[in-house]
Amino acid sequence: MEVEQLEQRLEQLSAKAVDELGEADQKEEAIQVKNRYLGRSGSVQELMAALRELPNEDKPKAGKAINRAKSTIEDAFESRLEQLEHQQLQRRLKEETVDVTLPARSSGAGLGHPLRQVERRLIAIFEQMGFQVAEGPEIETDYYNFEALNFPPDHPARDMQDTFVLTDDRLLRTHTSPVQVRTMEAYDLPIRIISPGRVYRCDSDLTHSPVFHQIEGLLVGEGVTMSHLKGTLTTFAQRCFGEGTGIRFRPSYFPFTEPSAEVDVECIFCEGEGCRVCSDTGWLEILGAGMVDPNVLEHADIDAGRYTGFAFGLGVERIAMLEQGVGDIRRFFENDQQFLAQF
Ligand code: PHE
Repeated sequence: MEVEQLEQRLEQLSAKAVDELGEADQKEEAIQVKNRYLGRSGSVQELMAALRELPNEDKPKAGKAINRAKSTIEDAFESRLEQLEHQQLQRRLKEETVDVTLPARSSGAGLGHPLRQVERRLIAIFEQMGFQVAEGPEIETDYYNFEALNFPPDHPARDMQDTFVLTDDRLLRTHTSPVQVRTMEAYDLPIRIISPGRVYRCDSDLTHSPVFHQIEGLLVGEGVTMSHLKGTLTTFAQRCFGEGTGIRFRPSYFPFTEPSAEVDVECIFCEGEGCRVCSDTGWLEILGAGMVDPNVLEHADIDAGRYTGFAFGLGVERIAMLEQGVGDIRRFFENDQQFLAQF
């Protein structure tokens, strides 16, 4: 082969390689093309054999031509790689763009817990009747939870309270009634308060939870009678459950009230007809109430000859369960979002 022929052949090879590199659209493909021309057994390498056959004076010229071809192909390879990488980057940028104009996924507005919703409604009803909210501690002393409420140390009524005892003198309050005593100690008469809050009893089944909520009511002043209690609770029942809702008192016993009563409202489901929820009685028991026992007034240094009062206590869970048709009290405390979101 003449040197001119060799030069021509190299020109053709490198032009072809440049074309093929231009068409490679994967990095791997470009590498293959490059190897086909420049590799150990590539076409350019094969022409080295032809160079060796040439007369010595032609060798420098042929060598230069080979180097030229090699660097043309290498340059074309490098720039193709750069192009491919750039293209790939552009593609990725396009795929990964965030459309900031898309509407955001809604995280849902927070709602009050169903018990809190019921509690707020009940509080509002009593506030409209002039009751003020008072609070007391959840860790109580034996004195406020029992003694001052006319439960002497060995009184059998303590048994019904399933008390969580903390130390000799500390316990988790079993009802909101201790706030009655605390308020009478702290404020001048007349008193008209409600006291919502958590209470604790060692009991757990479908209708009992070791922690639950009560709202206590207390009104003390001159000339307060049982008919004031009845009027207050009738108004409450009608505002809470509807205009025509009747209530009835059944005799009962609490150490801190005398007389005492369990108060029923007309069944909100059958309106007194009798149904499954009210066990065919037409009535639902919703609270305990009575006239404040003179002993309790005396414990708070109130002249029981001059002043009288009434008190009542209702269970928030009980009302929430009735109104919402919840059969298991424990649902309120499991924090299951699907359950809570229904309210
Ligand atoms: N404290 C009583 C209970 O938890 C309820 C009650 C309150 C009864 C006020 C009468 C007066 O069972």
